[in-house]
Amino acid sequence: MPLPAPLFSARGLAKRYVMGEVTVDALRDVNLELSQGEYVVILGPSGSGKSTLLNILGGLDVPTGGVVHFMDHDLSGTDDAARTQYRREHVGFVFQFYNLIPSLTARENVQLVTEIARDPLDAAEALRLVGLGERLDFFPAQLSGGEQQRVAIARAIAKRPDVLLCDEPTGALDVETGKSVLAVLEHVNRALGTTVVVITHNASIGRLADRVLRMRDGRIVEDERHDHREAVDEVEW
Ligand SMILES: Nc1ncnc2c1ncn2[C@@H]1O[C@H](COP(=O)(O)OP(=O)(O)O)[C@@H](O)[C@H]1O
Ligand SMILES: [Mg+2]
Repeated sequence: MPLPAPLFSARGLAKRYVMGEVTVDALRDVNLELSQGEYVVILGPSGSGKSTLLNILGGLDVPTGGVVHFMDHDLSGTDDAARTQYRREHVGFVFQFYNLIPSLTARENVQLVTEIARDPLDAAEALRLVGLGERLDFFPAQLSGGEQQRVAIARAIAKRPDVLLCDEPTGALDVETGKSVLAVLEHVNRALGTTVVVITHNASIGRLADRVLRMRDGRIVEDERHDHREAVDEVEW
């Protein structure tokens, strides 16, 4: 049987910033294929190009060289409108800081997305998926950091994206709280089949994933596949 076509494919991807005399190669010759349903962790030191790669996959940024596709969408071109539509239809983002609107409840924060999406989950259902079914009408200030991040995840998955891109989602959380967020990402991946990509500094988090990409100096220097992924509670933190 032929292998299914990859969800993402990148060839010779480069991102170069030129600032006067200074040139920074944030990405150099990145080649990558990601499959539908994979749970991928990207590890690497600060400045190694992780966010640059994630932002290009998410259509927030464009490369200066090479090509990248999401299925048949060309993400390397300069068609801003097409990339905006790609993001809207296919991508959920989760960042280190939750960016919730303080004057809206958890449910209302998620509804901001479900009101404009084509075939969304119900806001309450999305919040139940992240374990916040009992907190629907709480305001952000009434929720812990981990709970706020789970609201942000509910908001990101409510439009049923194909891919959830997470840039240091536990970066502002202590270990225990971070574990609850990671358990939710794993649950979303399994329950909805959403492809999940997580950037982190924490090598332990890699053990939860199907695949770990290690980046250094703008390159993917290691691509490790696991045939068994560990549960959040099995990993030594
Ligand atoms: N807008 C920008 N202008 C200039 N340099 C940038 C810009 N964004 C990122 N960089 C540089 O690109 C490199 C990779 O950055 P980044 O992808 O944010 O790394 P990471 O997420 O791994 O910490 C760094 O050296 C960073 O300083
Ligand atoms: Mg970063």
